[in-house]
This record gives sequence, structure tokens and C-alpha cells, in this order.
Amino acid sequence: MISEKLSGALSDQANAEFYSAYLYLAMSAYADNAEFKGIANWLYVQALEEQVHGTHIIKHLLERGASPVFADIKAPQASYGNIAEIFDKIVAHEKHVTGLINKIADLALEEKDHATYNFILSYVSEQIEEEASAGEIAARVRLIKDRPDQLYHLDSVLGARQFKDPFGG
Ligand SMILES: [Fe+2]
Ligand SMILES: [Fe+2]
Repeated sequence: MISEKLSGALSDQANAEFYSAYLYLAMSAYADNAEFKGIANWLYVQALEEQVHGTHIIKHLLERGASPVFADIKAPQASYGNIAEIFDKIVAHEKHVTGLINKIADLALEEKDHATYNFILSYVSEQIEEEASAGEIAARVRLIKDRPDQLYHLDSVLGARQFKDPFGG
């Protein structure tokens, strides 16, 4: 049986994942209105992935006989200065999320809850990818800062991203 402390931490994490989805959706809406349709697509696909992250945690809690807690999801920032600001904020946000995931891994180890530890490891791996892809795009956006033609090229590259279940389901 999962402890109350750990199940609470997982519920909090599910909330953080749904907040991430909401944040990416707000960023996607901003990019869409700014006519960066490809970047909007990339952000929208990211929002879908975050929803899967959140749902997967809720399902895990149910499998473990725990009751997930559904708390308020805070409103995300909706307005941005430019595309560079969006990707810098994403990098910072994903680093923050990695910290939250690592804390859950620490707690699972402390409690010798191997099932939760094993479960959260897929999130540890997922965060490596998320930080890497966001960091790569942020670096490219910074490089092409004052070249709209290059930004539109990046926009069409990011427009090709398609949703893929992060857990392969
Ligand atoms: Fe996530
Ligand atoms: Fe994420």
C-alpha cells in the first residue's frame, strides 16, 4: 500500500502536470495568434503530452488503491513578449518540474516503496528528454533572434511535430 505522504505527493505531481498542459496550451494560443502556427502546433502537442503525464499518475494511484486528490489548477501566463521568452520560460519550467519529480523519487527511496520508485523513474527519463528538447529549441531561437526568415523556418520545422503517447500506449 502506498503511504498517504507519497500518494499526496503524486496527486500534487498530477496537478503540476495538468498545470504544465494548461501553460503549454496558453503558450500555444499566444503563438497561434502571433501567426507562428508551427510553434503553436509544437506547444499544443506538448500540452497533450502533459495531459498524458497527469492522467498516468492518477491511474497509477488508483492501481495502488489510493484516492487521487483533484485540486485547483492555477491560471498560466497568457501573454508573452516574443517566442524567445516562451522557450526560456519552458526551459525554466521543465527544470522546476524535474526538481519535483526528483523529490518524489527521493521520498519513494526513503520509504522503500519500490513500486512508486519504479513508476517515477519513467518520469525521470521523460524529464531528461523534455529539458533537452526545450533547451535545444531555446538555443536556436536565441541564435536566430533578429532573423525573421530563420524564425519562420524553425516554425515550419516545429509544425511537423505529431503527438505520440509518451508511455507508448
Ligand atoms: Fe510532464
Ligand atoms: Fe514537461
